[in-house]
Amino acid sequence: MTWDELKLQCENCQKCPLHETKTNTVFGTGNQNAKLMFVGEAPGEQEDLSGIPFVGRAGKLFDQYLEAVGIERDEVYIANMLKCRPPKNRDPLGTEQDVCIDYLREQVRLVKPKLIVCLGRISAMRLIRPDYKITAEHGKWVKKGDFMITAVYHPSLLLRDPRKKEDMLTDMLDVAKKYRELS
Ligand code: URA
Repeated sequence: MTWDELKLQCENCQKCPLHETKTNTVFGTGNQNAKLMFVGEAPGEQEDLSGIPFVGRAGKLFDQYLEAVGIERDEVYIANMLKCRPPKNRDPLGTEQDVCIDYLREQVRLVKPKLIVCLGRISAMRLIRPDYKITAEHGKWVKKGDFMITAVYHPSLLLRDPRKKEDMLTDMLDVAKKYRELS
């Protein structure tokens, strides 16, 4: 499947009820040949309105970490587990993840990243291990198929609990170091 076919399929998706309440599909953004890919949870209000992942408050904080560790937003690929916004930003249901994950899998197949970073526990529990514990395991890398994968705190958690910002910076510096070692 090509990018255009995948994007179109995603935009016309009716596999779960979220398509009824969304404004825009939030497919993903960035470099389609990126060596580094970030995977968040699901679009929030600003993402739903703009069709672009991580542009709201949490996204702006995430941008600050990218800048702090010297990574340009458009050199990486940024996607979410879910492409449509869950009402009132509730956690994605298992059933929604089950039907949406195929789009993400196909994105990973097309981008072929060497490093994947889960933003938050929801994507870590899906992409790393169902019993993943973000507090204990954030920043640890695991080899999976053709890529290495880790998870860092979700930026929206950092907005609620700023004490975790120090760990986030440490993890993001490590992500940047691993990324630079690739080239
Ligand atoms: N939170 C996410 O997980 N993804 C977004 O795109 C925005 C907020």
